[in-house]
Formats: sequence, structure tokens, C-alpha cells
Amino acid sequence: MTKNRTLSLNSYNIPSHVVIIMDGNGRWAKKNNLHRISGHKEGMKSVRSIIHAAKEFGIKYLTLYAFSEQNWNRPKSEVLSLMDLLKLYLMKEGNKLLEENIKLNSIGRLASLPDDVLDVLNETIDNTCKCTDMTLTLALSYGGREEIIDAVKEILRLGNINEKTMSEEIFSKFLYTHDLPDPDLLIRTSGEIRISNFLLWQLAYTEIYVTKTLWPDFRRRHLIKALQNYQKRERRYGLTTDQVTKRNII
Ligand code: FPP
Repeated sequence: MTKNRTLSLNSYNIPSHVVIIMDGNGRWAKKNNLHRISGHKEGMKSVRSIIHAAKEFGIKYLTLYAFSEQNWNRPKSEVLSLMDLLKLYLMKEGNKLLEENIKLNSIGRLASLPDDVLDVLNETIDNTCKCTDMTLTLALSYGGREEIIDAVKEILRLGNINEKTMSEEIFSKFLYTHDLPDPDLLIRTSGEIRISNFLLWQLAYTEIYVTKTLWPDFRRRHLIKALQNYQKRERRYGLTTDQVTKRNII
């Protein structure tokens, strides 16, 4: 087992897929006597920092819960600002993703996004489609229940899968995440202990890390702490500790 000395992270046990519920922008703004939008703007800085750090640490898939299906019900001005921020991010950072060899992906009911946001999103996805260092997935207009319903609808529409042929593997192919591995680590900021309709199917065996740090304060060192915590976990997938130990030796 080698340790990366600067980070004290075990480079052989880096989670392949990390997903983040970025929470606490509003509370951060309130704490700093600022408008909620300023919290989202500061949160963008964390987004940039965490994408960069995740790639540096060798995480292959990073998925960020950026806008939920339920977030459409927020005040119109906040929704508009979040859409503007997203567009601005994609316009400003699209080339950087390409330079950093990061492939952009997106999951959710994307057709609900404003046309101008969808255009720049699709353009960035196209431009970065051959990048291989890390896949960054933005969950946009995303809901876990909605994803499952959309999968079931598609299965019913196709009509060629029956109760004998249906399996977990086949069902997974109909989810928005069909080309992503299940998450190894879920990080949620701001101390709330819930999963808020995020990746309901995919999180079955994911390790969960909750930190009180608000998303706009969450930077590289906080990600290191979350990874260190993950590296202390024993993932058993329903087996006993003895079975897991034996399996790791073989
Ligand atoms: C939750 O904080 C955060 C969101 C609903 C939006 C997250 C969006 C960003 C960080 C900026 C855009 C992101 C990308 C990837 C371009 P909250 O508003 O629910 O905070 P609160 O619970 O403290 O009110």
C-alpha cells in the first residue's frame, strides 16, 4: 500500500465515482449578510475547485447535483439566476474542461432547461466527448423518482422486456446513468442527513459522508478529509467482515 505523502491519501483506494449534494449556499449567504444568489456565486468557486481537485486525486467520475426537478419551484428570480450561472459557467469553463481532458455529461429532464442553456450544455458535451481523464456529470432538472419513472415508461414503450428477462442489470440500462458506474462515495454538505431524491437506485451500496461545512466553504482540503474518511470504511455489500477479508486476499 503506497501513500501519497502530501495528501496522506491511499492512492490505491480512491473512489472511482464521487457524487456530491452541494447544499448550504443560501445559509452561507445569510451568514454573510448577502443575497441568496451571492451564495450560489460563491458555490461556483467551490465547483471549480472541487472539479480540479477531484481530477488531481484520480477520481474518474464526479457527479454534482446542481439543480433538482423540485428546484423549479423556487422563486422565479432564483431559478433565473441559477440558469444564468450555469450558462456562464459552461461558456467560461467549457474550454478549460477540454484542456484538462474532462468529459462533460449531464443527467436529468434536460428538455426542461431553457434553450440557450441547453445549447451551450450540448455544445460543451460535444466538444469534450473524447476526453478521458475524468467524467464530470451535472445533474440538472434531476429527480431520482422521475428518473425511475422515465425508465419504466421507456421499458413499457419498447414492450420487449418481460418478467423473466427483467433484471437489475437491464433496468440500470434504462436509467440516465446507464454509462456511469454506481457511486462509491456520496458527499453532502451543510449537515443535512438526507438524500433529497438524488440517485435513488444507484446509491444502494454507496458510502455516505455528511459534513457541516456549507458548500461555498467546501474546497480541496474538505474533499481530502472526505476521501480520508472513505478510506477508513469497510465496504461489505451485505457480506460479513471475514468474507470481505478473504475476498480481498484472493
Ligand atoms: C443548494 O443550496 C444548492 C443549489 C440548489 C444549487 C447548486 C448550484 C451551484 C453551486 C451553482 C451552479 C452549479 C454548477 C455546477 C454550474 P441551497 O440554496 O438549497 O442552500 P440552503 O439550503 O442553505 O438554502
